[in-house]
Amino acid sequence: KASKRVLVTGGAGFIGSHSVEQLLASGYNVCVLDNLSTGKLTNLPHHDGLTFIKGDVCDLQAVKDAMQGASYCLHLAAQVSVVRSVEDPSSSAQQNILGCINVMQAAHEAGVNKLVYASSAAVYGNPRHLPIAETSTVCPLSPYGLEKWVDEQYAALFHTLYGLPSLGLRYFNVFGPRQDPKSPYAGVISKFFDCLIRKTSPTVFGDGRQTRDFIFVKDVARANIAALTSSHQGVCNVATGNRVDLLALLSLLHGVTGNYLPAVHLPSRDEDIRDSQGDTQRSRAWLDIQPQWTLNEGLKALYTAT
Ligand code: UD1
Repeated sequence: KASKRVLVTGGAGFIGSHSVEQLLASGYNVCVLDNLSTGKLTNLPHHDGLTFIKGDVCDLQAVKDAMQGASYCLHLAAQVSVVRSVEDPSSSAQQNILGCINVMQAAHEAGVNKLVYASSAAVYGNPRHLPIAETSTVCPLSPYGLEKWVDEQYAALFHTLYGLPSLGLRYFNVFGPRQDPKSPYAGVISKFFDCLIRKTSPTVFGDGRQTRDFIFVKDVARANIAALTSSHQGVCNVATGNRVDLLALLSLLHGVTGNYLPAVHLPSRDEDIRDSQGDTQRSRAWLDIQPQWTLNEGLKALYTAT
């Protein structure tokens, strides 16, 4: 295993950098390809087993060069905002679909053993049943969700055409240290947390009764690594199996930070899904892992890291 090389696209980002840390700790050699548009070099550790290439997944040649000698690929480079995909669907599709196709082509040409790529719970849209199993109907409500679903279709096609082994991970709502709160498109926990620390009122879109399945980034990184060596292919949820509404989330954050600021309510976002809670049966069977962090433990770890 010590000699195995893993290419991590988006490795300088939020989920990427935690995955890189755990890969290095497990003895892998890691190559990071990142355009540093949202990722940061300071997210990465100094380690002999790590090489960094500044480059974009939309540049096929850069992806091919970075893929050389890789046994595995973890593809995380993406435009991650649902809202931004509505505002600029063309650029979002370029990064999230064409970038992913480049990675699939390069992975196939390099003969990698496994491609693991970031899909999303956003592919489901508003589910009929909770928790949401992988067999549920897919019905995205945003360009972002559609892009991730298209990626899954390409992955299936690359398997049929070329036998490329892949596993798409449908992440639910990931949170933890290094998730940037500054962007207007930032995830809700990083934004709420930042507001409470700076003693400003958080903004809640809608009544705050929408629910999400929040999973701590270190658990997601473990799922990523397990997926690389799992014999399974197709798609798999990465979730905790629990859900919490935003108002309950805010009270947990009040407890963790010791700061209480009342929320300001704005109209809900059209592209928002209402409820989200992942079924974890498949991930337990395929990846042989269970989340180790509760929401409150993860929030405390975020507080300590800040
Ligand atoms: C998130 C992820 C997406 C992932 C998907 C999986 C981010 C930025 N997006 O989308 O990459 O694929 O989960 O399900 O991490 N909200 C507020 N106030 C705020 C910000 C958000 O009330 O300041 C609300 C939103 O309206 C929404 C909920 O919080 O109802 C979650 O929003 P957000 O964190 O942006 O994530 P998703 O849209 O669920």
